[in-house]
Amino acid sequence: MCTYGQKFDRLAKTPPMGWNSWNKFGCDVNEKMIREIADAMVSTGMKDAGYLYVNIDDCWHGKRDSLGFIHPAPDRFPSGMKALADYVHSKGLMLGIYSDVGALTCGGKPGSRGHEYQDAITYAQWGIDYLKYDWCNTDGINAIGAYTTMRDAIYSAGRPMVFSICEWGVNKPWLWAKDVGHLWRITGDIELCFDCKVGHDPWFNWGVMNIIDKQEVLRNYSGPGHWNDPDMLEVGNGMAVNEDRTHFSMWCMFAAPLISGNDIRNMSNETKEILTNKEVIAIDQDSLGYEGFKYSAKDSVEIWFKPLINDDWAMCILNRSLKLHSVSFDWKNEVVYDNLSKRYAAFDKTVYSLSNLWTKKDEGTTTEELKAELPGHDVLMLRLNKM
Ligand code: GLA
Repeated sequence: MCTYGQKFDRLAKTPPMGWNSWNKFGCDVNEKMIREIADAMVSTGMKDAGYLYVNIDDCWHGKRDSLGFIHPAPDRFPSGMKALADYVHSKGLMLGIYSDVGALTCGGKPGSRGHEYQDAITYAQWGIDYLKYDWCNTDGINAIGAYTTMRDAIYSAGRPMVFSICEWGVNKPWLWAKDVGHLWRITGDIELCFDCKVGHDPWFNWGVMNIIDKQEVLRNYSGPGHWNDPDMLEVGNGMAVNEDRTHFSMWCMFAAPLISGNDIRNMSNETKEILTNKEVIAIDQDSLGYEGFKYSAKDSVEIWFKPLINDDWAMCILNRSLKLHSVSFDWKNEVVYDNLSKRYAAFDKTVYSLSNLWTKKDEGTTTEELKAELPGHDVLMLRLNKM
C-alpha cells in the first residue's frame, strides 16, 4: 500500500551538515572523487565535527533506459550508485544526489519531469539519503505542485531522504514548503565573493553579504525540520581567511544548513579550523533552531544575537567594511529582546560569562564593557553563558 501526503518528518531536526560537489567541481563529478571525499570526511575530522551527507550535485547522470529508468554516466560511475552508496555508508556517512523538476537539469542532463515516482524508487533502491531538487527548465510548472509530487514520490518509495528544495526563492517557498521539504534555498546561487552581485541575465548570483541581507527578513519561517537555505558554503574556495570565517559565522548565526563546497581532500589548516570549529558549529546546531537577528547597525558594524538553549545567547559583531573598527558594547545599558522566541536578556540583572568562539579565550563577563578592535570583513563571535 502506498502512503502519500507527507515528508519524512524525523529528519533535519537541526540544520543538515555535509558536503556538495557543485561549488568547487561543477559538472566534473565521478565515483573516484566521491569515494576520496568520503575518506577525507573521516580523516580530516569533518565527520567528527558533524558533517554527514556527501552530496553529488548536477551531471552524475547518464541516460534513461528503454523503460525510463535513469542510470549514472557509465564512464564516470562505472561501479554504479548502489556500490557508491554502500561505500559511503561503510564510512558512517550518507549519500545525496541531485535532480530537477524539469525535463532537463541546469546542466542539461535528464531531469525528473514525468519520472518522479520512478526516480524516487530508483534512488531508494540505490540507498540515497538526500535529494536536492532543482528548478531549471520549468516554464509553466507550478512549484508547489511539482515539489509536493516529488515529496510524495519519496515518501511512497519508503526510504527516508532529506528533501532539499532548490527553487532559488522564486515562488517564496518559506510560505509553503514547511511540510514539503526539509530546507529551501532563499536565493539564486552564491557567488565566491564577500560583497558583490553578479548578473547572469535574467538571474543574479549573490555574494555573502547580499545573501545575509536576503535571509535576515525570513527568520520567522525557519526551524527544526524546515530550514531557510542561504546556499552552500564557499569556505576554502578563495576568499580571504577572515572573510571565510565571517561567512561561516553568519551561516551559523542563521542556523543555516552547513554544506561545505570545497575540496576537503586538499584543504589548508585555516580552512579546516573554520569548518570544524565545534563551538561555532554548536551555535548552528543549537536544538532550539532559532535564526539570529540583527540587533543594531552603525557605520558598517552590525551586532547580531541568536537565542540558544539554557538561556544562553550567541553574539556576532560583524564588520562589513574593509576598515578596522573599534567596537564597544556596554552591557548594562543594553536590553536584548527577541520577538520570535520571546527571549529577553537584561544585562543589568543577569550576568553572562563570555567565550570567544574563534580565539577560544574567555572574555570575562557582562559586568564589564566589551571593547575590541575589529579588522575589516571580520567578526567577533561570542557565546554568552548564563551564570
Ligand atoms: C543551480 C543550483 C546550483 C547547482 C546548479 C547545478 O544553479 O542552484 O546549486 O545545483 O544548478 O547545475
